[in-house]
Order: sequence, then C-alpha cells, then structure tokens
Amino acid sequence: MVFGSRSMKILTFGQTGQLARALKRTQPNTVELIQLSHQQVDITQPQRIDEALAYYRPNIIINCAAYTNVEKAEINPESAIKTNALAVEYIAKAASAYGIKLIQLSTDYVFDGGSSTPYLVTQKPAAINTYGQSKLLAEATLLSYQSDLFCIVRTSWLYHHTGNNFLTTMLKLMSQTHNQAAIGSSKENPINIVNDQTGSPTMVDDLTRFLWKLCLQKQWSAIYHWSDAGICTWYEFAQAIKTQAIGLGLLRQPIYLQPITSEQYASIVNRPVFSALDSGLSHTIATQNPWQQQLSLCLNELKHSKECLFVAKN
Ligand SMILES: NC(=O)c1ccc[n+]([C@@H]2O[C@H](COP(=O)([O-])OP(=O)(O)OC[C@H]3O[C@@H](n4cnc5c(N)ncnc54)[C@H](OP(=O)(O)O)[C@@H]3O)[C@@H](O)[C@H]2O)c1
Repeated sequence: MVFGSRSMKILTFGQTGQLARALKRTQPNTVELIQLSHQQVDITQPQRIDEALAYYRPNIIINCAAYTNVEKAEINPESAIKTNALAVEYIAKAASAYGIKLIQLSTDYVFDGGSSTPYLVTQKPAAINTYGQSKLLAEATLLSYQSDLFCIVRTSWLYHHTGNNFLTTMLKLMSQTHNQAAIGSSKENPINIVNDQTGSPTMVDDLTRFLWKLCLQKQWSAIYHWSDAGICTWYEFAQAIKTQAIGLGLLRQPIYLQPITSEQYASIVNRPVFSALDSGLSHTIATQNPWQQQLSLCLNELKHSKECLFVAKN
C-alpha cells in the first residue's frame, strides 16, 4: 500500500492483543507505528494517556485496547465500563486537545440481534450485554464531540491462526480428536457449537487492510462497519474450518461437530442472535472478500507458517 512519501505516525493503545499484533504484521513501510502495551500505558489513567500523546504526537491513534472478555464483563461490569467507556472518554479528550485523529474500534454486539438483514451504520444500536453496552457508551461519547477527528469502526468475529480466538480454539479441539477420549472424536462425544447466532467472521488482517486505507482518507464518516463478506452461524463457521483444514491436511477425520442452541450452551451472556454488519458504505475505501475465501487464506498461511502445530500426521 502506498502511503505517500511523507511518513505517518500512528499510535496504538494496546500492543499484545489480536488487532494490535495484526497491525504490526501488516504495517506499511512508510508508517511509523508506536504500540504501547497495557503496562506502558493503562488507558484507565488519563494522565498516562496525556503524557504518551504529548511525547509521541502521533497523526492518528488506533485504540486497540479494550476489555474484550464478554463473560467476565457480566461479572465485572465496572472494569468493562472503565476500560471500554471511561478510558475512551479520556483518550478522546486528550486527542482533541492535541488535534490528533482517533479510530475507535467497536463491535457488532452494540446491536440487539432483532434484525434479519445485516445492520446498517444508520440503524439504532441497543446492546443486550455488558460488553456491548460498555462499547456503546464509548460510541456515544465520541459521537457527542461531533468531531471530524474521530471515527468508529465496528467489526465482528475477529480471528487469525495465532492468538486466542474461535479459529485457534476450534483447531486445537479438532486436532485432538485422534485421542478417542477427546471431545469431537465420536458421535457420542461431539464438539458442540452454537447454531442460532448469525454474524460475519472477519480475518483480522483484512480488518487492518481496511484500517490502513482508512488512515489515508482525508475525511472520515462518523461510523464504519467492516467485516468479511457473507454471513454464517458459529456452527457453519466451525464446519468450514473443519472442511478446509482437512482439505489442506491440517486436520484429519473423524471430527464430529454437533449444532446446539444458545440455550443449550451454558453462558451468563445474552448474545444477539443476528449481528452481521452491512459494510456497504465502507466500499468506497476497500472491497470486501467472502469470509470463506479469507478463512482459506488464513489456513494456507498457517500451513506454511513455522508455528504450524496442526498438520495431520498419518
Ligand atoms: N475479538 C473480536 O472478535 C472483536 C469483535 C468485535 C470488536 N472487537 C473490538 O476490536 C478491538 C480489538 O480487539 P482484540 O480482539 O484485538 O482484543 P484483545 O485481543 O482482547 O486485546 C485487547 C488489548 O487491550 C489491552 N488492554 C486491556 N485493558 C487495557 C488497559 N486498561 N490499558 C491498556 N491496554 C489494555 C490488552 O492488554 P493485556 O492483555 O496486557 O491486558 C490487550 O492487548 C476491541 O476494541 C474490541 O472491542 C473485537
């Protein structure tokens, strides 16, 4: 990607998370990327934010720091709100004072799931769990500034072949099925996957492709949606992982998957049954690829990566 001759200084809060690591992996040559870990700057401490911005003076902040454990957010709502909402207010205040642009990541979980077609940026959000509510509070704060320095990027179901996410969880489970006691190894002991929640998987490196292009835009809209194209349930996503990984020789049969309902999946979190995002308005910035194609790209990368632990041995 051409970033022009002038180098752009981009700062991320959060360094170790899935998105921050993807930004590092995909960093264009002409971008100076400063990534501050939780240890370096705890975003719940406004003074630390202020010091970091005064020192680094980036052109753009991409806030990758968040409280993302949806289950724990129900138990510790104060912590979730502190990191996902109050801290974003601190970042916005400091960014505004220094004239720094800010991209805030948000989520499909700001919606209640009542729609049957992908959510448009113009649709009114109404979160049904603490994590979603905390992210929605951050959105409201940023929108209240009515500042063209700020924008919100909602995304969904992030995954990669590294880190902790649905893909790596599934690959770990599915790679153990040669052990006859392991779940997934028989019809009687399948891997249970929820089949009544629909959304759009997003390969995190494709989100960064969008974000880097967004950084180059002279003017921003207030809200963007970005996910890979197409929709599926978690069960359908798992089925595709299984089929593609077996095809690539990363996994071997038998692997038994069982579709279940959200009710059967013991969770304290109320999750939207439908949370696919309509990314149509983002097409002026980047084109979307089908989620199945992105999954294939990701699994092929895994197959050829040094860290690949999953290649099936016959
Ligand atoms: N993952 C998804 O499926 C998904 C879906 C939709 C939207 N999003 C949004 O996308 C963004 C990136 O998500 P992600 O998957 O990359 O999250 P992640 O992997 O959980 O990473 C979150 C990062 O935030 C850091 N962090 C947490 N509290 C902090 C604090 N008080 N100060 C500074 N850093 C702090 C964590 O550091 P430590 O680990 O060191 O605490 C970690 O590096 C988030 O805004 C998330 O809400 C994610």
